[in-house]
Amino acid sequence: MSLSTSKAAFQVLSRVVPQSGYNEPFVNTSQLRAKCMKKKSSMHRYFIESSSVFQSQSRPHRFPLTGVSFYDYKTYSHPWLQTCKCQKAENLSGITSNDVEKSNLVSNVMSAKSVVELQDVELLKQETEVLSSDVRNGTIAKSFDKISLNSIEDEAWDLLRESVVYYCGNPIGTIAAKDPNSSNVLNYDQVFIRDFIPSGIAFLLKGEYDIVRNFILYTLQLQSWEKTMDCHSPGQGLMPASFKVRTVPLDGDDSATEEVLDPDFGEAAIGRVAPVDSGLWWIILLRAYGKCSGDLSVQERVDVQTGIKMILKLCLADGFDMFPTLLVTDGSCMIDRRMGIHGHPLEIQALFYSALLCAREMLTPEDGSADLLRALNNRLVALSFHIREYYWIDLKRLNEIYRYKTEEYSYDAVNKFNIYPDQISPWLVEWMPNKGGYLIGNLQPAHMDFRFFSLGNLWSVVNSLATEEQSHAILDLIEAKWSDLVADMPLKICYPALEGQEWQIITGSDPKNTPWSYHNAGSWPSLLWQLTVACIKMNRPHIAAKTVEIAERRISRDKWPEYYDTKRSRFIGKQSQLYQTWSIAGYLVSKLLLADPSKANILITEEDSELANAFISANPRGKRGRKNMKQTYIV
Ligand code: GLC
Repeated sequence: MSLSTSKAAFQVLSRVVPQSGYNEPFVNTSQLRAKCMKKKSSMHRYFIESSSVFQSQSRPHRFPLTGVSFYDYKTYSHPWLQTCKCQKAENLSGITSNDVEKSNLVSNVMSAKSVVELQDVELLKQETEVLSSDVRNGTIAKSFDKISLNSIEDEAWDLLRESVVYYCGNPIGTIAAKDPNSSNVLNYDQVFIRDFIPSGIAFLLKGEYDIVRNFILYTLQLQSWEKTMDCHSPGQGLMPASFKVRTVPLDGDDSATEEVLDPDFGEAAIGRVAPVDSGLWWIILLRAYGKCSGDLSVQERVDVQTGIKMILKLCLADGFDMFPTLLVTDGSCMIDRRMGIHGHPLEIQALFYSALLCAREMLTPEDGSADLLRALNNRLVALSFHIREYYWIDLKRLNEIYRYKTEEYSYDAVNKFNIYPDQISPWLVEWMPNKGGYLIGNLQPAHMDFRFFSLGNLWSVVNSLATEEQSHAILDLIEAKWSDLVADMPLKICYPALEGQEWQIITGSDPKNTPWSYHNAGSWPSLLWQLTVACIKMNRPHIAAKTVEIAERRISRDKWPEYYDTKRSRFIGKQSQLYQTWSIAGYLVSKLLLADPSKANILITEEDSELANAFISANPRGKRGRKNMKQTYIV
């Protein structure tokens, strides 16, 4: 659907959708988002029926978005803000006093636990038994009864539920970290789109669909937010990195307050980076929601279909690039600060590929979408060819690069990107196992980033961007390099660390990204779930089971850290948050999937035979020629 067509569709809809339930959206939020309120041209605005439904505390989990009204923004002179008007401050989050009591008790128990040095899982179990008996004896208030502390898994569920964020009584996401003993929350008190994915999957696997549905629909509303940085705005379709539910006084009524959703598109983020991965993850979660719940009505909605198309348009827009991979800035994904991954980082390419596949599956056929679908299909073929062919590295390929001729000017060049063999670092010569291989981190003219990035590799297994052979080789490499990648806590975000002058130049001497810490080869338990899905897909779940076992030895005792430091992940990260939600949710998803591996299908995309055939005929290894390439997939 073209932009003008979609706008027309909204105008038609605004005529047919009854508007009686619509609430005046003009709240004075100028203090709150003064910089973001400048009027800029946007395609459309959505307004959500607000207080009349939201105020109903008796139906706290009913999602109020069923009657979304669409308005042409031009009819309004005030900035748009997603709001819900609530009568009383204490009811704002939709949490009852009983819930607050319960939540305080959980926090108390967590802080009580923090002073106890638990030696191992057995000790934890003993402690939880003591706590349970306290509960039975009434030492701990009755409201705590329901909270089971019988195992690490139970504790994880309790913590995950504790992290749920409510918007006008409806669960809409999970906070990034919730350490009751920390005052240094930075922006970890927000709902991050990428962080919510494992939370959402955990809830889906548990049969709790509402929170995921709400998350999908509310974040969709934020997509069309006006976002600017110093008078410049990024493309329509960008999803925020995170959002926060804020409580603000209701204009003209001292006794009442309202909740507003306040997104961050990078305009407040450290480093001001646009989160390219958010929209891609959103599409992946949308498909998972439909597959798991069987409710396809969400993905079929006009606004959701438009949301998908807006993300695709942003990603498929023509630019100057010669490569089919997505060109992005440093820090535009999970690694959200400078780590030398600008260009065509593998993580973004893997998510992009998934998003294209998932979108193709969900887009409803209509006249206006033929061009988009054609562009999408062409990109899928070109992208999989490019990654499989040029990002792949194993011992054999490394030897080929080692013997590369350079400065080849011709259509038939073997060394297309003019890679100088001297780029092969000594660590790699030693590190590459005889059996196994991986997709490199990035490819640019005259530059291959040989670092191993876990998420990009695992997700390329999950979505079949890597061939079956390559996928097995990636898991072989993880097994062969166990002490480097898994060590004492799964999983290294990348390997190896940038050190010395390289660290100074590439990270800008970033004290948070010192060698073997944080993004610079720190270990992230949140990556457990992606590893688990990849292992299940390749029918090698025992690898994931082993990593989960390793994590269980200390993750709860260490209070669910965000990341670990040192080469062997022995220390809790220097600046690591504790009770990090995606560490908790990632663990839970792994447990749930290992218990029922068939459920991993909601995340997996199998090799598409048409794509595979297109890939085979486009493969220049058989015939390296410009003509051949043109005939096969450039449309
Ligand atoms: C850090 C991580 C990022 C994550 C955020 C919230 O900024 O780098 O990936 O989304 O924290 O947990």
